[in-house]
Amino acid sequence: MDKKRILSGLRPTGKIHLGHLVGVLTNWVKLQDDYECFYAIVDYHALTTEYADTSRTKEYILEVAVDWLSVGLDPSRSTLFIQSHIPEHAELHLLLSMIVPIPWLERVPSYKEQQRELADRDLSTYGFLGYPLLQTADIIIYKAHYVPVGEDQAPHVELAREIVRRFNNLYRAVFPEPEVLLTKTPKLLGLDGRKMSKTYENFINISDEPTVIHRKVMSMFTDPQRIKRNDPGRPHICNLFSYHKLFTPDDKVKQIENDCKKGIIGCTDCKEHLARQLTDTLSPYREKRRQYLSNPDLVHEILSQGAKKAQTVASATMAEVKEAMGI
Ligand code: TRP
Ligand code: SF4
Repeated sequence: MDKKRILSGLRPTGKIHLGHLVGVLTNWVKLQDDYECFYAIVDYHALTTEYADTSRTKEYILEVAVDWLSVGLDPSRSTLFIQSHIPEHAELHLLLSMIVPIPWLERVPSYKEQQRELADRDLSTYGFLGYPLLQTADIIIYKAHYVPVGEDQAPHVELAREIVRRFNNLYRAVFPEPEVLLTKTPKLLGLDGRKMSKTYENFINISDEPTVIHRKVMSMFTDPQRIKRNDPGRPHICNLFSYHKLFTPDDKVKQIENDCKKGIIGCTDCKEHLARQLTDTLSPYREKRRQYLSNPDLVHEILSQGAKKAQTVASATMAEVKEAMGI
C-alpha cells in the first residue's frame, strides 16, 4: 500500500476541451490505478495571467471540477482540490522565493513565450515571473514523486528539481526530487490547424452539444488540394484525419484513409462521420456533466473533502520546512 505520489494541476481559465481530454485527463484517470494522486485546480496560477478580469474564475473552477468528475477522476481514490483552499501553497512559494535566483525564473522558456503570446496584457508582474516557482510549491508541498504533464511543462518540473536540490543542500533533505511523467499522446491541433488556444476559440469542448460539435467539425480544415469530391486526398496532412485517428475505431480509420486516397469519400461525408463519432464519444461525459451540474453542492462538498486531505499533507510539510529554515 505504499504507492508513489503524483501531483498535477490545471488552470481554470476556460472549459475543458478535447486537447485536455486526450493530452492529460485520460492519462490522469489511468494513473489513479497505480498512484496516490493529487489533482489541483490551480486558481492562483489562473490569476497570474487573468488578474485583470476575474469575473468568470469561479464559474470556470466549477466547470473544471464537473468535467474532471465526468471523465472519471474519482474522489474516492484521488484528492481533488482547489489550490487556493490550501494557503500553504502561497506560504511555501514565499519561502522558496528567498532562495530562487531571479535568472532561474527569467530563463524558463514559457516566461518570454507567454509574454509574447498574451501581448494584450501586462505580464511584467512579479506574480507572473513567479509562476513556475508557485508550480514548484504545488508539487513539492505534497512531496510528489511524479508530475504527469505535457512536454511544454517539462522545464517547469526541471526548475522544481533544481529548487529541491538547492533547498535540500542549504537546509536539510526535506523534499524528494520530482520527476516528469510525460504524456505520450500526439498533440491534437485546433479545428483550424493552429495550436488549440482560447484566443482562437478553435476547439471542441467536452460539454458541447451535438449540434455544436457538428457545426465545429463542418468548419474544420482538410486537405486543401481536394477541390472536387473525387480528387485523391492526403490523409497524412489532413488535420481532420488526425482526429479520426484518435477517436474513430481502427478498422474504420483504415477504410477512411483508403477511401480518401482513392477519392472515394468526400470531405463532407468524412466530416459527418467524425461529428457522429465525437458525439458518441462525448455523450457519456455530457450525461454525467448534467448530473453534477444539477447538484453543485455535491461538487463543492467533494472539493472541500479534497482540501481537507490536501491540507493535512501540506501543513505537515510546512512544519518541516519552517523548522529546516529556522523560523
Ligand atoms: N503550469 C501548468 C499548466 O499550465 C499548471 C500547473 C500548475 C501544474 N501547478 C502545477 C501542473 C503543478 C503540474 C503540477 O498546465
Ligand atoms: Fe481529410 Fe477526410 Fe477529406 Fe481525406 S476525406 S482530406 S481524411 S477530411
